[in-house]
Amino acid sequence: MERTLCIIKPDAVRNNNAGNIIAMIQKAGFKILGMKQITIPNAVAGKFYDVHKERPFYSELVSFMSSGPIIPIVLEKENAVADWRTLIGATDPAEAVEGTVRRLYATSKGENAVHGSDSVENGKIEVAFFFADSELA
Ligand code: RTP
Ligand code: MG
Repeated sequence: MERTLCIIKPDAVRNNNAGNIIAMIQKAGFKILGMKQITIPNAVAGKFYDVHKERPFYSELVSFMSSGPIIPIVLEKENAVADWRTLIGATDPAEAVEGTVRRLYATSKGENAVHGSDSVENGKIEVAFFFADSELA
């Protein structure tokens, strides 16, 4: 079994799309091991996306991710990392496949509804960033 980190981003929480996204997750066969709604300060969002700190969109991304509540969710399934990325769709909703989360709920390339870990290794790091082992079912 593999784990990945999903984050329902502030745009999707604000637009009341969290329930629809969680339904898509469950319909696709992921087990939810942990989930919480939190608002993170700028510094925490900056640390989470540290890998992008040299990119031109970094400060916009960090402000956005701390602009309101987010819902980090730990997902478990065989092939969870790749399967969640497939269900999410491309970073830019205009390029995302029909029926994917971003095609349905993202508003722009920056405000794109959800996050997904990009490797098994990063999935482990990202799960530990938001959850203690004792919080995972
Ligand atoms: P994520 O990490 O959130 O799952 O998204 P991703 O892998 O599809 O995209 P990534 O390249 O890792 O970028 C992280 C997030 O930064 C914002 N972004 N904005 N305005 C832009 O050109 C731009 N490019 C990226 C998005 O919120 C993206 O998900
Ligand atoms: Mg990424």
